[in-house]
Amino acid sequence: MIALEVLVRWAHLALSVLLVGTAVSILLAGRSDRPTALGWETRMLDACRGLVVLAFAAGVAVLLLQTALLEGRRAAALDPGALRRVLLETRGGHVWLVRHGLLLLLAAFLAVPLDVRRRVDWRAARGETALLGLAALGAGAAAGHAAALPGALAAIATDTVHVLAAGAWVGGLLPLALLLRRAGRAEGADARPLAVLAARRFSRLALACVLALVASGSVIAWAQVGSVAGLVGTAYGRLLLGKLALLAPILALAALNRRRHLPALGGEALRVGRPAMRRLARFVAGEAALALAVLGLAATMGFTPPAAHAEPDWPFAFRLSLETLADAPARAARALVGSQVLVLGAVAALAALVVRRARWPLLGGALVVLGAGAAIALPPLAIDAYPTTYVRPAVPYQAASIVAGAARYREHCAVCHGPTGAGDGPGGLRLARPPADLRAPHTGQHTAGDLFWWITRGIPRAGMPAFGATLAAEERWDVINYVRALSAAHAARNMGPTVEPDRAWLVAPDFAYAVGPTPARTLKDYRGRRVVLLTLYALPGSRPRLAQLADLYGSLTALGAEVVAVPTDAAPDALRRLGAAPRILFPVVTEGAADIVAAYRMLAAAPHAELLIDRQGYVRAIGRGAGLAAAEPNALLAEIQELNAEKVPAPAPEEHVH
Ligand code: HEC
Repeated sequence: MIALEVLVRWAHLALSVLLVGTAVSILLAGRSDRPTALGWETRMLDACRGLVVLAFAAGVAVLLLQTALLEGRRAAALDPGALRRVLLETRGGHVWLVRHGLLLLLAAFLAVPLDVRRRVDWRAARGETALLGLAALGAGAAAGHAAALPGALAAIATDTVHVLAAGAWVGGLLPLALLLRRAGRAEGADARPLAVLAARRFSRLALACVLALVASGSVIAWAQVGSVAGLVGTAYGRLLLGKLALLAPILALAALNRRRHLPALGGEALRVGRPAMRRLARFVAGEAALALAVLGLAATMGFTPPAAHAEPDWPFAFRLSLETLADAPARAARALVGSQVLVLGAVAALAALVVRRARWPLLGGALVVLGAGAAIALPPLAIDAYPTTYVRPAVPYQAASIVAGAARYREHCAVCHGPTGAGDGPGGLRLARPPADLRAPHTGQHTAGDLFWWITRGIPRAGMPAFGATLAAEERWDVINYVRALSAAHAARNMGPTVEPDRAWLVAPDFAYAVGPTPARTLKDYRGRRVVLLTLYALPGSRPRLAQLADLYGSLTALGAEVVAVPTDAAPDALRRLGAAPRILFPVVTEGAADIVAAYRMLAAAPHAELLIDRQGYVRAIGRGAGLAAAEPNALLAEIQELNAEKVPAPAPEEHVH
């Protein structure tokens, strides 16, 4: 099924691209009344007629296949009801209708015999063919991956530029090769001026198209792949790499054609001009063949989930990370030296581009220096990596998950790693290596995917057992969220009641809660909108502070802050217990309190605690016991003002630890 899908999509794309390229190259060559040129033009118009019919047919095949896939049964491909649903109710269906309507229009236009003896008519007629073809090809972008991105319009426009540039360039190669071949023969000599002109114009157009392709392709790759892991670790990324690998020889051929063959075309006919023309024809045909393979990869990418949405499978046993340099001055020094050597190599390479005379020796030297720089700089940056290193956690960093993870941890891990993660459990005594201190900053530097790998497979040489068989994947992610919270709590033990300006690093675990009968809300709902003062309270000790907050509530909301009060005993009748006076207008959590308290107590272990969470979702100040409460009321307002005054807010943390 997949092979069939690749085949029909490739056929459809290649035929559409050829159609566009042929129409554009007729326009590009311009009008001529020489017999050979006229013969070529007639052949190309015939080709357009054939191509439009074939592209339409391949498009129908794509539609039938897509319908069968969407409905999950083969028979759906021939079921009018199913086809109607796909065409009328899906975005892809709408775009299909528009594109194939344009193709039909083009077919009708090509079928009408036109009198093109007058010059204006010729341009209009050929221009219209190219325009309709381009429109049909470009419209496809509206149904591609770009349409699913935020800011879809810009993404669709970028995709359109990409596919149109590919169409004009790649599709024009074969028609150009045919023209050159005809004009390169003795009997086609009358078309030589036209062929030379066409080749020069095409070369200029191709250069513009390649630049547009590279620019738009980079933007698309950034949005759809976004990371090295996505590039080397997912099907989509690997297809892209394949595309780039094929593009390199195409560009080399194109550069050779432009520098060698093109200037020779105008030379003396018998010995220089015509042989050059025939050679150029062959090389251009070679470019076209490679380009068709690129289109095959592009068509496959069209229905492969973009890397940014797939779980990468990291293929190497190491990765590079600057974090390895944090507490290692010797490594840092070596990396620094290496980086300077790299800079030197880059300068030499640039010089080679500019200085003509010593180009090749300079370039060779530059490559050697670059290699040496990499050999010095990279090894200190390398740390172990595993296939799951860049996998995104399946469970978000949330209080409920942390609490579930804590239970699993007590059951399976505390024996060795100790109740607080310090690595001091009794089970560790009989091991060759002491169990790791899970609170160490070093643990925090590994990706969640690294932890997932270790917990799943164990670390045999150190005596750490594997849990892939005992714990379900989700439970392992819960444990990882708990370990992250352990490490965060350890790092946060010195965070005090005052905000450190512009230093947001402690991610506040998300949580869900409800107040009385109102629908459930989450901490994340406040993202980008409000500063949250999360108040864990215990009666009767917290009563004076709650009264104070109730008093301040007007000023707090005016500053854009919300108070969320959580009873630490998680009493469902918390509202009643608070009583009627003073009147509390801020939310008091009646559902979900237990998880919030358990997770946030890790950061602030005190009967009464307050955590100030900024609009991006970072904990910025912690008051334990008296804490924020001890300060005079205005101090709290000042801290919030401090947050409000921050100019460059930190990027919001990802939903998952990483
Ligand atoms: C039998 C004892 C034992 C048990 C049980 C155990 N571990 Fe370990 N763990 C170890 C040892 C030993 C190491 C290796 C320390 C080293 O590599 O130097 C380790 C390493 C780790 C590391 C790597 C830390 C780092 O920074 O290198 C993580 C994460 C970890 N364990 C998590 C867990 C979790 C989660 C559980 C429970 C699901 C668990 N371990 C259960 C003994 C144990």
